[in-house]
Amino acid sequence: MFPDRVVSGMRPTGLMHLGHYHGALKNWIRLQSELPCLFFVADWHALTTHYEEPGVIEKNTWDMVVDWLAAGVDPSQATLFIQSRVPEHAELHLLLSMATPLGWLERVPTYKDHIENLAGRDLATYGFLGYPLLQAADVLIYRATQVPVGEDQVPHVEMMREIARRFNGLYGKEPGFERKALDAVKKLGSKRARLYAELRSAWHQEGDAAALEQAEAMLDEAGSLSNIDRERLFGYLKGSGKIILVEPDVELTRAARLPGLDGRKMSKSYGNAISLREDPAAVTKKIRTMPTDPARVHRSDPGDPLKCPVWQLHEVVSDAATRKWVMQGCTSAGIGCLDCKQPVVEAVLAEQEPMHERAQQYLDDPSLVRAIVADGCDKARKLAQETMRDVRETMGLSHLS
Ligand code: TRP
Ligand code: SF4
Repeated sequence: MFPDRVVSGMRPTGLMHLGHYHGALKNWIRLQSELPCLFFVADWHALTTHYEEPGVIEKNTWDMVVDWLAAGVDPSQATLFIQSRVPEHAELHLLLSMATPLGWLERVPTYKDHIENLAGRDLATYGFLGYPLLQAADVLIYRATQVPVGEDQVPHVEMMREIARRFNGLYGKEPGFERKALDAVKKLGSKRARLYAELRSAWHQEGDAAALEQAEAMLDEAGSLSNIDRERLFGYLKGSGKIILVEPDVELTRAARLPGLDGRKMSKSYGNAISLREDPAAVTKKIRTMPTDPARVHRSDPGDPLKCPVWQLHEVVSDAATRKWVMQGCTSAGIGCLDCKQPVVEAVLAEQEPMHERAQQYLDDPSLVRAIVADGCDKARKLAQETMRDVRETMGLSHLS
């Protein structure tokens, strides 16, 4: 009933590394050619934890956008924008906050974790508690149907769905909703109307999810309906009233996690990262000096790839034949560690070469990046304003329109 749309954001942490590429960015690049996508720099989110050091946000934002472009995010396919340039996100956040129970925010699993992990920062703030709600506003304002996120963010998307459902339940009941819905049922024609009634009661009384799906598919195809009536019938079917905000689905980022140079998660703060556009000589050196299986002290000692961080890189960047060669060569002491690292060096450099090339034009002319983002902000803002018109209306705030 609402078209497919993908929305995802990233905090402006500055230069991206290969972990970001093999995690989130590759997924974005796949999705951009399949569905309409909106990707944004979550600069307000950066402030929820780093409000004391706002100075780096701007530089980090542009560095990150150049990296997105370098990695292959394509502005002719996806819309790229900056959260704070679409202030409607804040308006929706405020309006959603009125009816969001505190307990929902306090129970988000990342809340307590983060407060502990980021000890040293005072995160007993209103903004930090509310950031999953801000994230909900980021997505709901575009009526996104899919949100590509990693495992850690799944509870946030779950909460977005609850927020949307609650909003529709509270505000989606226009006066006379039931009567209008029943009128719309008649417009389906008698055969479909009967089927609709049967499927609706199977869903309401037996929780038959297949019936719900079948009814939704039927509504999608019913050409005789106006959009408003279709919306009412979807609402009446689900028991939620009119659907104003869409419940998005998780599009789980299943990409292999690329570990850092020491085998831990790749992260700038661990100093174990290879940045996306790192100079080839530095990349080569970093890989050649990586630690290996600690039991393999001499070239003649057999090793165990499963105890070696280099192997974890092979698992992401090498083909099956190379991995087999590593397995056999390492466990039999047939190859040395530098031999083993060479294909990793080559694969990483090959992967980075087009990134350097794509980045160059943007480094030569930063106004290109600004133009891409300005255009993306305009597009995003138009969509956000459409949703806000409906939200204001249903909340009794359309005074002058
Ligand atoms: N919270 C996300 C992160 O820390 C970033 C983010 C903000 C986001 N708003 C979003 C991700 C909306 C997906 C959808 O990485
Ligand atoms: Fe690691 Fe390769 Fe050396 Fe084995 S040969 S210990 S997998 S670097």
